[in-house]
Amino acid sequence: MNRLTTSKGEYELARYPEHPRDPFRAWDAADEYLLRQLEGIDGATPVELTGTVVVVGDRWGALSTVLAGHRPVQITDSYLAQRATLANLVRNGHDEDAVRLLSARDTPPDRIDVLLVRVPKSLALLEDQLHRLAPAVHAGTVVIGTGMVKEIHTSTLKLFERIIGPTRTSLAVKKARLIFCTPDPALARTPSPWPYRYELPGDVGAVSGRTVVNHAGIFCAERLDIGTRFFLNHLPERTGRDRVVDLGCGNGVVGTSAALANPGAAVTFVDESYQAVASAEATFRANVGADAEARFLVGDGTADLGPGSVDLVLNNPPFHSHLATTDATARNMFHGARAVLRQGGELWVVGNRHLGYHTQLRRIFGNCTTVAGDPKFVVLRAVKR
Ligand SMILES: C[S@@+](CC[C@H](N)C(=O)[O-])C[C@H]1O[C@@H](n2cnc3c(N)ncnc32)[C@H](O)[C@@H]1O
Repeated sequence: MNRLTTSKGEYELARYPEHPRDPFRAWDAADEYLLRQLEGIDGATPVELTGTVVVVGDRWGALSTVLAGHRPVQITDSYLAQRATLANLVRNGHDEDAVRLLSARDTPPDRIDVLLVRVPKSLALLEDQLHRLAPAVHAGTVVIGTGMVKEIHTSTLKLFERIIGPTRTSLAVKKARLIFCTPDPALARTPSPWPYRYELPGDVGAVSGRTVVNHAGIFCAERLDIGTRFFLNHLPERTGRDRVVDLGCGNGVVGTSAALANPGAAVTFVDESYQAVASAEATFRANVGADAEARFLVGDGTADLGPGSVDLVLNNPPFHSHLATTDATARNMFHGARAVLRQGGELWVVGNRHLGYHTQLRRIFGNCTTVAGDPKFVVLRAVKR
């Protein structure tokens, strides 16, 4: 647990899921810079936090927790960010409803008076979110963005310019920068270009030539990932009633492939990104059928699935968490998969060869077979015994 010190006091903050040995803090210099700006520290003019205050893209709820007294609306695409926010609010003596949590898929408030944007890793997500928020912004709305210098590019500023209004940046402080944007109500409103659809190549098994639907900000939203491509060519061939989980489903291409290959499969798509689960649902419905059996869950790994309730888990795990490389999520997913698999059930994983997932799988399952490999990727199978 780490403490964030602000002029308003000290806050105990943690990421979610919380790990006692988590090397990462739940905030960074970009969050601190924004908070200092709002409070009018270092010669800045303090910002009056009145009316509807909206915080977009708060990574782990640090901004929302410090600003909880202003009852902000938080908008995020991340279920984990929402869980972190709730835990951090309670940890710091607030009620869970001190912050109104909206996902990136929800309708934003009609009118926004203060808009604070933690610039996301994905430019596409920022573009989509600004398009959705622009109608609620008025000439008097205070709009401030924040991010680490390496996250803010000319293209980032151009998005604010094009969708909200004239934009400038602050000096960099501790490798963080602020973005000041003045809303221009006369700007022509254009619709978001998302979702984006692309056609799959002809050599990727059951989904060959099919169309994939991608909402903004999801993993590989504009082209098929090469690891996923390798996985699609080495998925298990199964028949009959099969309870399958596409764990970390992204646009749902893996689970959709399993459903097309085996009409007896009942696929559950899970992701911590609301945009991903919406994409998976759209991909599945477009390719398998409007009434075909499937479940679409936003959640943390397999946490919402029953023990022993699954025959097969398919997983292309993430190895990044907000710009930091980490294998903690993959490890959690493997443990979670084991818990929900029935005896004899299987976890199939694709990963970069150098990530060494086979060592973790052997430790967790007591076995691991390499099903396929090329110089870059491996597909691994672990059986619950
Ligand atoms: C490498 S991508 C794979 C996406 C898709 N299966 C594919 O192969 O194209 C990993 C996915 O895991 C999701 N993810 C990350 N952490 C998660 C968690 N704790 N629970 C569920 N999904 C998570 C990410 O949002 C991302 O969509």
